[in-house]
Order: sequence, then C-alpha cells, then structure tokens
Amino acid sequence: KGALNQEQFFAFLGYMVLSFFAYVLSYWMIPKIAQLTEKADIFGYDINKKGTEAGTIKIPESLGIVPATIYLIFNILGILFTRAYMPDLILSHISGLLAITFIVFLGFADDVLDLAWRYKLLLPPIASLPVIVAYTGGTQIVLPQLIRPYLGQSIDLGPIYYLYMIMLSTFQSNAINIYAGVNGLEVGQSIIIALSIAVYNIIEISTQQQHLFSLMIIVPYISSALALYNYNRFPSKVFVGDVFCYWSGMTFAVAAVLGHFSKTLMLFCIPQLINFLYSLPQLFGIIPCPRHRLPRYDQKTGLLYAIKTNLTLINLVLLIKGPTSEKNLCRVLLSFQILCTIIGFGIRYLGSQMFF
Ligand code: UD1
Ligand code: MG
Repeated sequence: KGALNQEQFFAFLGYMVLSFFAYVLSYWMIPKIAQLTEKADIFGYDINKKGTEAGTIKIPESLGIVPATIYLIFNILGILFTRAYMPDLILSHISGLLAITFIVFLGFADDVLDLAWRYKLLLPPIASLPVIVAYTGGTQIVLPQLIRPYLGQSIDLGPIYYLYMIMLSTFQSNAINIYAGVNGLEVGQSIIIALSIAVYNIIEISTQQQHLFSLMIIVPYISSALALYNYNRFPSKVFVGDVFCYWSGMTFAVAAVLGHFSKTLMLFCIPQLINFLYSLPQLFGIIPCPRHRLPRYDQKTGLLYAIKTNLTLINLVLLIKGPTSEKNLCRVLLSFQILCTIIGFGIRYLGSQMFF
C-alpha cells in the first residue's frame, strides 16, 4: 500500500509507453474502418454544414468502435500488470473490463439498430452487471462534514450502493451522449474528463493502490480517444457514434467506482450535469423533444443560432454568447469544460471541508 515502489513505477512507465501504441494503432485504423462503415450504410449527415442544402454531407458513423476495440486489447494486457502488482484487485479489474466490453457491444448494436430512448436507457444498467455481481469493495460513502454531526462519519448504503453504481454508469454514458451534435464535442469533453481523472489519480497515488489501478484503466482510454479526436474535430471526417459515448461513460464509472472516488468524478462533469438538468423538461416529454436538439444552421452566414425550445447547454451558450461558427462554439464549450474541471478540483481540495 502507499506510494509506488521503484519496480511498480517502471512497470507503469512501460504501460504508458504501450498506451502510446493504442494511439498509433487507432490513428492508423480509423480511416480504414471508416470506408467499411460507410459501405455498410453506417453514416450520418453532418447537420451544421453548408451542403447543397443543410445536412447533405455524408460522414461515416460509429467510428468509436475502433479506439474502443483497441482500448480493450490494452485493458486486457493490463491484467498482467494487476496480477503482478495488485493481485487483490484482479477480480475488480476483470469485472470492470467485462462491463466495458459489454457496453461496447451494446453501443455498437444501438448504432446499427438505432434503438428508441426507452431501450437505450437500459443498456448501461445491463452492461454494469459484471461489476455489480463481482463487487466486493465497501458499500459506505463518506458523508459531507456539514451533516456528520447528525448522521455520523459515513453511511453504509448496503444494497442501495449497487443501485448507486448502476445510476452512475447510466448517468455518465447518457450525459455525454446528450451533450453532442457539434463536431468534436463528444470526444473533446470526454478527453478532458479522462485527463481530470488521470490528474486526480496522480495527485492521490500515494494514498491507496486503487489510484494506480484507476490510472491504468484511464491512460489507454486517453490515448485511443485522442486518435479519434483527430478525425472527429471540426470539420469531422468521421462521427463517433453512441458506442463512443457509452464506452466513455462506462470507462469513467469503472475508473471512479473501483478507484473509490465516484463523488469526485461528478465534480469533473459539471457541464454534463447542467446539460442534463436543463434537458429534463424535454427528456420527460413536458416540452416536445425532436430527434435532434441542435441549434439552427444558417446557410447564408454559416453561423449557428440558438433555438430557445431546444434545452441544451449548447443552445444556452449560443443564447448568451450570440451566433457563432461551429468550430468556435466547440472551442467555447470545451474551454468551459476545462474551467469547470478547475472549479471541480477547487471544490475537491478547498471546499472538501463542506463536501467530503
Ligand atoms: C443525441 C441528442 C440529440 C443530438 C444528437 C447529436 C438528446 C436527447 N439527444 O441523440 O439531440 O442531436 O445526440 O449527436 O439530447 N451529428 C452532427 N454533427 C456532429 C455530431 C452528430 O451533425 O458533430 C448528427 C449526425 O447526423 C449524426 C447524428 O447526429 O449521424 C448522431 O446522432 P445520434 O448519436 O444517433 O443521436 P442521439 O445520441 O440519439
Ligand atoms: Mg449519440
């Protein structure tokens, strides 16, 4: 327990170098698989672009399947590392891996079959099953300082903790998926969240071996997702698909639950939380929810304009900032994500008296 010994440190360094190959391999394979998905009729129309008319540019879809598959290879190889240095975490590792594999399979199925929302919502809970049945860690959560005088240091949630884990993976996956529709946003936000998880683990690495484990889960994710970002950023050459959003959400949930910092993870997802809460009236059907809740693209100016009845953070930012280009909008939204991460770290370390 505690800080890394020298052997562990070098082994982990080797693992980081290996993760770099996940980047190279993904970068090389994405364009190749993109040709195949398009041929298989798996494509989407780029909605916010000038075409002969709006949305006539065909882009290969679901390319998240490539980095996700390559990531799985590296996650499996990581078992060798867990076996050697953290043998008591082997069950956690394998069950986490199984959950991530399961969601990649279900996510790709969703992309091909285009499932309705009520079925989509079921996918993360189903895929969480391996973690739920194999989880042997604690079921307590530490209470915020403010309420400790009334309820004590921590509270044992028992079976409710399992429900909490299911809710976390469901929230993570869907929150990323519904904060989307602007080139580069799905991957951009996910990479920033993943980097925050990595930095947090590095800061905390001397406190518990779980942080080393969590770091192993997240490092190959970052490298393979970065390769996808190269093709998905404005102007997109590929779309990422729901498979990408689910894979990301489940990986974050696994890294946080098995790393014992699920509350901190939520601090890195403030924009997703705002977008989700703001979306609620449409998600519950109180206000009609069209297939796409995007802003309006204007052919003449080439700018995006807010649609007030589409309750997303994307539209809210456009309302505040005024019309802007798709490229700039993504830059603003990703800057906001980074700002929120900094605030999240601030709350974690400065406001922890109140919250942790
Ligand atoms: C979610 C959102 C939907 C949003 C969509 C965009 C909710 C409830 N659902 O639906 O409002 O429009 O994501 O991903 O909030 N696309 C672009 N440019 C991009 C990314 C996507 O034009 O940068 C379009 C393409 O046509 C692509 C399609 O969106 O094929 C993908 O949509 P999909 O991921 O299937 O939508 P949902 O996740 O169901
Ligand atoms: Mg989607």
